[in-house]
Amino acid sequence: MSYTINTLRMISHSCEQMRDRVKAIEFAPDGAKNLDLTFGPGIAAELIGRTPEALAKAEKEGRLPNPKQQANGRRFYTLEDLTDIREALNIHVGKAADEDAVIIANSNFKGGVGKSTITKHFADYLGLRGYKVLVVDCDPQASTTTMFDIKPETLMDTEQTLGDYLSPRSTFEDLRLAIYDTAWPTIKIIPSSLGLQDAEWDLTATLQEGGQAVRESLQRLRIGLSGLSKEFDVIILDPPPAMGFLGLNVMAAATGLLIPVPARQLDYLSTIHFMDTVADNIEILEKNGTPVDYGFIRIVCSAFSPGKPGEADMWKMMQATYANSLLTQPILASEEIKNATQAFRSIYESKPSASHATYQRCRTNLDEVFGEVVQLIRQQWPSTSMAGRSASIAA
Ligand SMILES: Nc1ncnc2c1ncn2[C@@H]1O[C@H](COP(=O)(O)OP(=O)(O)O)[C@@H](O)[C@H]1O
Ligand SMILES: [Mg+2]
Repeated sequence: MSYTINTLRMISHSCEQMRDRVKAIEFAPDGAKNLDLTFGPGIAAELIGRTPEALAKAEKEGRLPNPKQQANGRRFYTLEDLTDIREALNIHVGKAADEDAVIIANSNFKGGVGKSTITKHFADYLGLRGYKVLVVDCDPQASTTTMFDIKPETLMDTEQTLGDYLSPRSTFEDLRLAIYDTAWPTIKIIPSSLGLQDAEWDLTATLQEGGQAVRESLQRLRIGLSGLSKEFDVIILDPPPAMGFLGLNVMAAATGLLIPVPARQLDYLSTIHFMDTVADNIEILEKNGTPVDYGFIRIVCSAFSPGKPGEADMWKMMQATYANSLLTQPILASEEIKNATQAFRSIYESKPSASHATYQRCRTNLDEVFGEVVQLIRQQWPSTSMAGRSASIAA
């Protein structure tokens, strides 16, 4: 082996060992993530969409079991309790059975703008509220996969990965077999794998054949996910950072687009280029018989520090230029998010790293931003949108 290959392999091996050691400290003794989330009656009621009084009444009347109690007598609920309560009270979250999942791509071909951070946090936000979520990590860098506690290299021996599914050479045809459980009861993941990069090359090679082969290789993910879209409420795609065939597959599979842009000049400017590229690529997809029309497109300011020089002006500029296509609340840049990510967690999975107030501010901010996205999602389902409801009343 050459010096170069040897050195790179050695560094990679030693980093993997270090990662496992960090995980063993952060997580349970077996190195697997243990959520251990509990909620007081106020938060629990909010997460199931009822008042604390209604919750207490249902418990008193025996429609719900009595909640668990801490040593000090305080009542608390686990994530599983919330699922049971929704079931017992017949609270239906999400779409109707015959409707399709909303498939959101967090797209921007710039790295470091918050795509994976938003993917992970939005998935957890939805999971807390009982939505059925599928995360699809389409980035060979696999940050989101790691945040969901799956080691990409453990998938090396299987031939049933997203990469295998997407590759036109492969005979793996049932994408469902590439789905893994996560620590969250209602969140599943199709992890990224090392083979994803090979799939990109295989897909690109169909250009030489042209015609039908190209058409098919642009629609692989779309077809795979359409077979799963009744089972989940929301499918979140974390795209690769470049617009090759993999990126085009993501564009073609999505039904809604979120574009994260930090309040920084260079990110703002590169996004202009990104939007033109998306439009160009959607034209390519249309010409190849894969028409794409998103239910919504929103830019989300993904890291905003109001106190930093220039960022307040950037935010104003974003509001002026993106207008109605901008989510009204920016995601604040927060040490809480940074620290949680360091420990392979979202802030929804972690305890405050500094003061409780700072943590709560961060969480409230994310809840507001994601609340807006949930409204957009619910407008896509006739059973949950105002338009759909009035149509059914008129009928
Ligand atoms: N709102 C935020 N506040 C603080 N740090 C953030 C925020 N959003 C993202 N980051 C950090 O920025 C880095 C890049 O984010 P990431 O989501 O991995 O970007 P991408 O997926 O677009 O490459 C990560 O270290 C992440 O923790
Ligand atoms: Mg990423």
